Amino acid sequence: MNGERLVLGFESSCDETGVALVALRDHGLPVLLAHALYSQIEMHQAYGGVVPELASRDHIRRILPLTDQVLQASGRSTAALDVVAFTRGPGLAGALLVGAGVACALGAALKRPVLGVHHLEGHLLSPFLSADPPEFPFVALLVSGGHTQLMRVDGVGRYTLLGETIDDAAGEAFDKSAKLLGLGYPGGAALSALAASGDPASHKMPRPLLHSANLDFSFSGLKTAVMLRARKLALERDCAVGDLPQPILADLAASTQSAIVEVLVSKALAALAGTGLKRLVVAGGVGANRLLREQLNVECARRQMRVHYPELGLCTDNGAMIAMAAAMRLQSNAQSASTIYAFDVKPRWPLTEIQVTEC
Ligand code: KG4
Ligand code: ZN
Repeated sequence: MNGERLVLGFESSCDETGVALVALRDHGLPVLLAHALYSQIEMHQAYGGVVPELASRDHIRRILPLTDQVLQASGRSTAALDVVAFTRGPGLAGALLVGAGVACALGAALKRPVLGVHHLEGHLLSPFLSADPPEFPFVALLVSGGHTQLMRVDGVGRYTLLGETIDDAAGEAFDKSAKLLGLGYPGGAALSALAASGDPASHKMPRPLLHSANLDFSFSGLKTAVMLRARKLALERDCAVGDLPQPILADLAASTQSAIVEVLVSKALAALAGTGLKRLVVAGGVGANRLLREQLNVECARRQMRVHYPELGLCTDNGAMIAMAAAMRLQSNAQSASTIYAFDVKPRWPLTEIQVTEC
């Protein structure tokens, strides 16, 4: 490989439209040149969750202006692009089709190859965009709105599943609890902000599978516990849950957050101990959680282990992680880009199905 190759990446798997340009050079990690993001959260908030059809239509509206924005910010033209990457799955089928369709149309028009990326691989490799990138091998704690997994990562495309949730994801536990407390959608960040003024020991919330022998998680019981506790408190005051006094809601939020975080920290440490690895990578939206970061920092430092995170702004969905994952797959020869523009998307797609040789 000679000089620089430019990889444009599209993310459209759910409710964020992301576009980014990454430069792949002969040596060193790929470098992010520019990225642009549009979050649809405000639009979906009125419905209490993501409306797939509205999401697809909005991706169509945003994706080209965001692409122009990225090209302008990086001072590059479409003619300079070498590869066009997109999120192939998992995610909402209609939303994925927008990114895949635009990427493949652009690739075909420019006669440039395209590359479909696994959304979770994007999250997993997003800490390589940070000022403190990890080195392989490491344990990855993937905590997003739809997934909670512990993986052993030996290199790009070399992923071994160590454990995962058997029901709700950690982000889902945050979101569902937040909704119960009247904090809107998606409520992870709001619940965490409210928890800052609450007492985490005020309510004893369940810590599912905390002491199980394996590395699996279960969060569905937690939301039921939060619901029952909140309803009891509301009944005592003869009011709706959302109308409970702020300090009471803050105590509930803090107790809920501390239960989720304790389980995540404990299982991540068990995965490090079990694999003998000394490095942990945390990725996905819940990786933005302050308490989780604080506790992992303390526990890992105590064990002389390193913990790496994506930049705060790149924890939730974005185009930079997709362009980066594509560039790293190309760089490590895990995948080559394709000039077949008849695309498909994979709404359900286990990360462990990605083979190093898959094209
Ligand atoms: O990775 P992501 O953008 O989407 C998926 O791929 O699913 O993650 C979104 C999830 C949501 O559940 C959101 O509530 C959660 O990340 N989240 C947080 C925080 N910021 C986002 N959860 C807890 N604390 C936060 N600060
Ligand atoms: Zn995501």
